[in-house]
Amino acid sequence: MGELVNDQTLNTLFLEARTYSKWLPRPVADETLRNLYELLKWGPTSANSSPARFAFLRSKEAKERLRPALAPLNVDKTMMAPVTVIVAYDLKFYEHLPKLFPHNPGMVKLFETNPDLIEATAKRNSTLQGAYMIMAARALGLDCGPMSGFDQAKVDEAFFAAGQPCFGCDQEFFPEGHVKSNFLCNLGYGDPTTLSPRLPRLPFNEACSLL
Ligand SMILES: Cc1cc2nc3c(=O)[nH]c(=O)nc-3n(C[C@H](O)[C@H](O)[C@H](O)COP(=O)(O)O)c2cc1C
Repeated sequence: MGELVNDQTLNTLFLEARTYSKWLPRPVADETLRNLYELLKWGPTSANSSPARFAFLRSKEAKERLRPALAPLNVDKTMMAPVTVIVAYDLKFYEHLPKLFPHNPGMVKLFETNPDLIEATAKRNSTLQGAYMIMAARALGLDCGPMSGFDQAKVDEAFFAAGQPCFGCDQEFFPEGHVKSNFLCNLGYGDPTTLSPRLPRLPFNEACSLL
């Protein structure tokens, strides 16, 4: 606690970590994906709500289901990646709060009656959890290629039963199923020979204020 991690760790997580589109022919073990979740799940979410859901597409069949939803520029890199994760969110996340936030039973009621709060909480926290996933992946020696270039409705239809009857759902709130895609992320071991020079970032004084 309170200790700075070493330079090698900072390089792995931030300074030398890149976004990859080309992958080495090295598979990602299912065990590694389990380890990935076991790390990322500890990242904080509001009311410990943990709304993110992760669909790890490893098989050719699963990738082919995804293909029609991909923006053209994202097709090859996704088909070649050992794993593509659909980072999604469950709009019925609050049903798990009695287990995840047991000391405050009122929290379920708060969400049950407020669809706007449900949506904002699910989107905000699943995005955070997706970012935790990227950092956890890097910590495990994996590389990432996050993507927002895809058709959300098509992914939700192909993987999360959008447009089909949703048993046990409140059809008024969630008429098309209750799990929605947020972003995609390719995972694997990136080929460093394919990287372009890194793009700049905003300097402190353009992105931050000290108040
Ligand atoms: C949420 C998100 C969506 C992105 N969408 C795409 C995408 O659809 N296609 C793509 O080629 N790159 C996509 N990128 C990759 C970014 O362009 C890349 O991460 C950024 O330029 C930083 O590159 P670097 O990590 O190599 O420094 C996305 C990145 C993020 C975080």
